[in-house]
Amino acid sequence: MDTAIHRGELPPSEVYRRFARIEAHGSSAAYEDWAGSVAEDPEVLDLVAGLPRPKRQPNLVFAAARLHGAAGTYASFRATLVERWGTIRETVLARSTQTNEAARCAVLLPFLAELPQPLALVEVGASAGLCLLPDHYSYRYSDGTHLDPADGPSKVVIDCRLGPGAAPPRALPKVAWRAGIDLSPADVENSEDCTWLETLIWPGHDDRRDRLRSALAIARREPPRVIAGDLNESLPALAAEAPADATLVVFHTAVLAYLDEAARNSFVDLVSGLRGHWISNEGPGVLPRLRPLPPSVASGEFVIAVDGIPRATADPHGRSVAGLENCG
Ligand SMILES: C[S@@+](CC[C@H](N)C(=O)[O-])C[C@H]1O[C@@H](n2cnc3c(N)ncnc32)[C@H](O)[C@@H]1O
Repeated sequence: MDTAIHRGELPPSEVYRRFARIEAHGSSAAYEDWAGSVAEDPEVLDLVAGLPRPKRQPNLVFAAARLHGAAGTYASFRATLVERWGTIRETVLARSTQTNEAARCAVLLPFLAELPQPLALVEVGASAGLCLLPDHYSYRYSDGTHLDPADGPSKVVIDCRLGPGAAPPRALPKVAWRAGIDLSPADVENSEDCTWLETLIWPGHDDRRDRLRSALAIARREPPRVIAGDLNESLPALAAEAPADATLVVFHTAVLAYLDEAARNSFVDLVSGLRGHWISNEGPGVLPRLRPLPPSVASGEFVIAVDGIPRATADPHGRSVAGLENCG
């Protein structure tokens, strides 16, 4: 993830061009086409430029447009976007990018499993809290490691490719306590919130949509506690609630790109001063204070760091993880 894309810190044409090239390329042909075409379309760029900067991000505009019927080729998408811009704009202003991807648990699991158990998990930027339920999903790693919850295989089965240097987890983590923070938690009992979470899934990612539905069903049975608040303001009090006899793990995935640099730095200072451990899964440019990354890390990948030390790269949607050498 690129802060300039997600915070609208560049001219809209460049935001959409970068999104097409860095985030959508190789992942969603429709989004790559739409974003690349928007970047060259002055009329649509004018509409986007009329939004507040953090609301200009392609993920948000495209999801809002699809919620109101935009689909198909760029010409068809564009016609709906222009015709229904007033309604689409209202959705863009009312909603935010809250994509909740349970599959990201698969790339976090090797690092959660190596810590002293049981764990007290605090997720900042938790959305509906689906990543707070890693012990409720089944995992199928490419080396043949299969892990299931204690009560048998889950309806959510996450496939994850292990690249060079990545070791599978030996067991599911034992979670003694869990809680999350989000500016605006998505409510798993609210059908509009659930529809929004589905709409945030990119065209062509049908496996992700199926997984989201199953994960939401699990979350309705085992609701993770997610409090409303800003992560920097709410973290100290929430972390202080965690039981002292469990290993505190503060983690986040695909969140810090939405914060400005000062807020990201405050968060790093805050989390570094807490007991326990910190696991981050973010785009390579999001946490510049991490140890230097090897040049081989691609801009479209995520970097997993434990206590500020980069340990792995990961597919942004949790499909694969590979080890990183020599960053310690
Ligand atoms: C892209 S979603 C990621 C959700 C989840 N971490 C995952 O990976 O599936 C980013 C989430 O961060 C939340 N967020 C952004 N800025 C925040 C802040 N300052 N404090 C708390 N939550 C924040 C958003 O509301 C959104 O739900």
